[in-house]
Amino acid sequence: MNEQFRTIKNEALQAIETATTVSALQDVRNTYLSKKGIVVGLMANLKTIPNEEKKVYGQQVNDLKALIEEKLSTKLEVLSAAELSAKLAADVIDLTLPGRSFNVAPQHPFHLIKDEISEIFLGMGYTIAEGHEVEEDYFNFTLLNMPENHPARDMQDSFYLNDKELLRTHTSPVQARVMQENKNKPIKIISPGKVYRRDDDDNTHSHQFGQVEGLVIGEDLSLGNLKATLLLFTQKMFGAAREIRFRGSYFPFTEPSVEVDVSCHECNGQGCATCKGTGWIEILGAGMVNPRVLVANGYDVEKFSGFAFGIGIERVAMLRYGIDDIRRFYQNDVRFLDEFKKR
Ligand code: FA5
Repeated sequence: MNEQFRTIKNEALQAIETATTVSALQDVRNTYLSKKGIVVGLMANLKTIPNEEKKVYGQQVNDLKALIEEKLSTKLEVLSAAELSAKLAADVIDLTLPGRSFNVAPQHPFHLIKDEISEIFLGMGYTIAEGHEVEEDYFNFTLLNMPENHPARDMQDSFYLNDKELLRTHTSPVQARVMQENKNKPIKIISPGKVYRRDDDDNTHSHQFGQVEGLVIGEDLSLGNLKATLLLFTQKMFGAAREIRFRGSYFPFTEPSVEVDVSCHECNGQGCATCKGTGWIEILGAGMVNPRVLVANGYDVEKFSGFAFGIGIERVAMLRYGIDDIRRFYQNDVRFLDEFKKR
């Protein structure tokens, strides 16, 4: 092997030896074995070589090429294996890492309590009746013993949509609708839903809130049945220890009428801003269905009597969860809602 061959061989082997990456090795291959590479260039010299030396010269070029090929592929295996294990080491997955948690919205306290109230009454054999949030004046007032210009209409300042329709001010129109559908048949329903009033918002009043209406019609029902029902409800909801009181009241559609108060959760009955100094928070209105309402809705008052109630959903939730301000129900503060995740 002449000097030129030896030099090329040594330099090529040195370059292969010192290459530390697959791409550096590729450069070495290009330098020596590509079409314009050094080894192919040696072949081009063949025409300047005397004929008798051509065979030996050609053999030497081929041997050199084969040697470089062999060294390149051996080194390529080593470098590829090293690069693969480095990549695997960098991409390692730690199976012990905790997964990413999603922010699942908790149930709104309004719905938690609405469902809990419903469950209590479903357990007593009530079924659920649907009502209309956009209601006719006739069902919201007239059929409930509040004809036009009746002063009691002002007790519930209303959002009218046109001459005849309004956003219902209470769930009691469901009473009239269910009586109209059942004329002279017993009834035992509740109807949860939203109601709207032009009330000024403060800690216990909102312009939009929820009620659960209750209506029972049958034979020989008395105020005793109403009181036992409401006592059972309040004890299941608040526990036997919390105090409740029944207060005489007035609703045109019930006679006699009562309101039920629960001792204030903030001050335990001592009087504070939440209960406006009274020590009590009103949660529902109720009474024996006024015979005039029974007649207006197709019932025989000689045979049938009934009782009804309307429970304020937010008020019950406030007492149950110790919420100091009804406005928190609709302010959409995520921190408030998150408190219900922990319960
Ligand atoms: C009525 O709405 C009657 N329809 C209830 C009724 C039904 C009486 C059947 C007799 C027979 P009242 O306006 O008092 O009544 O409201 C009932 C309950 O709704 C109240 O006890 C209170 O818990 C809640 N409530 C009333 N006004 C508001 C308000 N602005 N914001 C939040 N809750 C209210």
